[in-house]
Amino acid sequence: MSRVVKLAVIPGDGIGPEVVAEAVKVLDAVTAGSGVEFEKTPFSLGAARYLETGDTLTDADLAAIGEHDAILLGAVGGVPGDPRLKDANIERGLLLKLRFELDHYVNLRPSKLYPGAAGPLADPGDIDFVVVREGTEGPYVGNGGSIRRGTPHEVANETSVNTAYGIERVVRYAFSLAGRRRKKLTLVHKTNVLVHAGGMWKRIVDAVASEHPEVDVDYLHVDAATIFLVTNPSRFDVIVTDNLFGDILTDLAGAVTGGIGLAASGNINPDGAFPSMFEPVHGSAPDIAGTQKADPTAAILSVALLLDHLGLTDEAARVTRAVEDDIAGRDATPRSTAQIGDAIVDRVQA
Ligand code: NAI
Ligand code: MG
Repeated sequence: MSRVVKLAVIPGDGIGPEVVAEAVKVLDAVTAGSGVEFEKTPFSLGAARYLETGDTLTDADLAAIGEHDAILLGAVGGVPGDPRLKDANIERGLLLKLRFELDHYVNLRPSKLYPGAAGPLADPGDIDFVVVREGTEGPYVGNGGSIRRGTPHEVANETSVNTAYGIERVVRYAFSLAGRRRKKLTLVHKTNVLVHAGGMWKRIVDAVASEHPEVDVDYLHVDAATIFLVTNPSRFDVIVTDNLFGDILTDLAGAVTGGIGLAASGNINPDGAFPSMFEPVHGSAPDIAGTQKADPTAAILSVALLLDHLGLTDEAARVTRAVEDDIAGRDATPRSTAQIGDAIVDRVQA
């Protein structure tokens, strides 16, 4: 029996198209002959499209993307500081809009220090944890405004929105993930200062914990969490946290596990009402765009997350294993983006 998966592909800007080309190669290789066919629709979105047309994400784009089963995104964004992009706000108008409109309430960011990967920590131990970052609430919802702009009396508010509904659903996802992993969940917040939002997060975690006696639960303030991510990252299994703290912690997590070229992520709508979106954590890296210097591994690991999400767990495991073997075999020989992709394709097919 054959299954068709409709995949929206957004290569984006800078190194986005370069890393997506390799990710798609690996996707095609691992699903060849499996009876699952990925029908891909390319979408031209990002800074280049904005410069051409003045649009970031139209209603028509959104509706067309929404027709798909999943989305693979490279990276979007132009050269930071480009005056022509001053009013574009690609981050809010495109990435955040997709996450909010497609109700990607789980932002999943696994962090693993692969054997052979060079990380900055002298004695890292086994690093293998997943950050479950809330994706649709918190201070990122755009609930704010400013008055008296540009005067000494300027007032700027950016209100963090937290709902019991929004917290409970992401907390439930995190518990269920912890139950399938090493059964440890850490809530990260700042309950001592952000008493209203933090208090609600804590109460909801405690309530859901009572349904999961198999999961060991602890709590860390976000500042303490940054210490442990560096001094003892192996203490973590699943971290659940809000949108802003999760954004910051996952950059640190990416750094301790060997860098931005390896960090993958999923923007997930677990209910399946909307397509989930998979993307490397890194941006469009204009400094190396077009030079084949980008590491496509993060994009390829995003394909593994995509396959896993679609229930293609064997295929996902094959991609992950191929990447692990490739990383373990790395030496100082420089390889182009395409050479790394080809090497991983070879391992997937072996
Ligand atoms: P960036 O992640 O694009 O680059 C930071 C540094 O990491 C650069 O030196 C770059 O060369 C390097 N780097 C990134 N990915 C790499 C890879 N796969 N292999 C090797 N080196 C890699 O972040 P930056 O410079 O702050 O932002 C550049 C543009 O990307 C901006 O327009 C920004 O808004 C956008 N951006 C987009 C994101 C997305 O699409 N999800 C996320 C972050 C930034
Ligand atoms: Mg970030």
